[in-house]
Formats: sequence, structure tokens, C-alpha cells
Amino acid sequence: MLKRIVLFVAAGAALGAIVVALAIPTPSSSPALAADAGGAAVFASNCATCHGDKGQGAPNLAPPLAKNSYVTGNPKAVIHAVLAGMNGPIKVNGKPWGSGAMPPWKGSLNNAQIAAVITYIRSSWGNKASAVTEKQVASTK
Ligand code: HEC
Repeated sequence: MLKRIVLFVAAGAALGAIVVALAIPTPSSSPALAADAGGAAVFASNCATCHGDKGQGAPNLAPPLAKNSYVTGNPKAVIHAVLAGMNGPIKVNGKPWGSGAMPPWKGSLNNAQIAAVITYIRSSWGNKASAVTEKQVASTK
């Protein structure tokens, strides 16, 4: 009988340890980073093929988004570029960017996904700019 109780208590302690280990906050369980992860996922599946998985860009395919003053500048311009796409000569950090077109995303991504991915590119790879909300996307044409 006593042996059973001891076993029961031991099992309880082990379970308790597991529960405590699971409850210790890990970075992926914080809400702020969870939102960021949404943007990271949208980026990985829609943008990284052209812009690179670290936003480094690719010659003749897509300009870098990392350390790009346009990306960290006026959020409305960035929202417009992602919603409507981009085509034609641009300058990236003052230097002419060769060629290529970016498809419009308003048909294939919803406003929440566009807000998340823009927030992600504005705050990754050394970029430090304000988050973009779904509301801001909805009010940009
Ligand atoms: C098919 C390749 C391709 C894909 C996919 C793509 N882009 Fe682009 N992106 C481009 C090209 C090319 C340009 C530059 C267009 C130009 O020269 O006018 C560009 C420009 C941009 C710019 C403006 C940069 C600047 O300096 O003006 C932003 C912001 C941007 N893309 C974000 C994104 C995001 C976010 C996604 C995913 C939702 C994405 N792009 C997907 C090719 C792509």
C-alpha cells in the first residue's frame, strides 16, 4: 500500500516537472513573436523566391528589402507597392535598380497577411520600422 502511494507521488512529481517545463515561456509562445511568425511564413511562401530568404535580393530578379530605405520609409508607399505590384525603373538606396516586375498581391493575399508580411520586412534583417496594421492596408488603394 505504502509502496503504491510512493509510486503515485513519484509519478505525480514527474508529471509536474513536465508541466513546468512546458509552461516555461519559449520565444515562439509570446504573442508579439507569434504575429511576427505569421509575416515570416507569408514571406517564406510568397516573397523569398525573388527577394531571398534574408531579404538580400537577387541580381536581375528582385531588389534587396534588407537595409532598404523605401521598405523602412513611408508605410503607405510600401503597402501600395505590395497591393498593386511594381513595374518600371526604381532606385534602391539611391542606386538605379535594373529591371523586373513584382506581381500585385491584393488578389492572392488578404489584408491581414499583407499587414503581417510588411510588418515582417520592416522589422527584419536589421530593418527597424513601425508595424503596419490590417486597417492601414484596408485604407490604402
Ligand atoms: C516575381 C518576383 C517577386 C516576388 C515573388 C515578390 N517581389 Fe517584390 N519586387 C520584385 C521586383 C522585380 C521589384 C522591383 C520592381 C521594379 O523595379 O519596379 C520588387 C519590389 C518590391 C518592393 C519595393 C522595393 C523598393 O525598393 O522600391 C517591396 C516592398 C517588395 N517588392 C515587397 C515584396 C513582398 C512583401 C513580396 C511577397 C508578398 C514580394 N515583394 C514578392 C519582385 C518580386
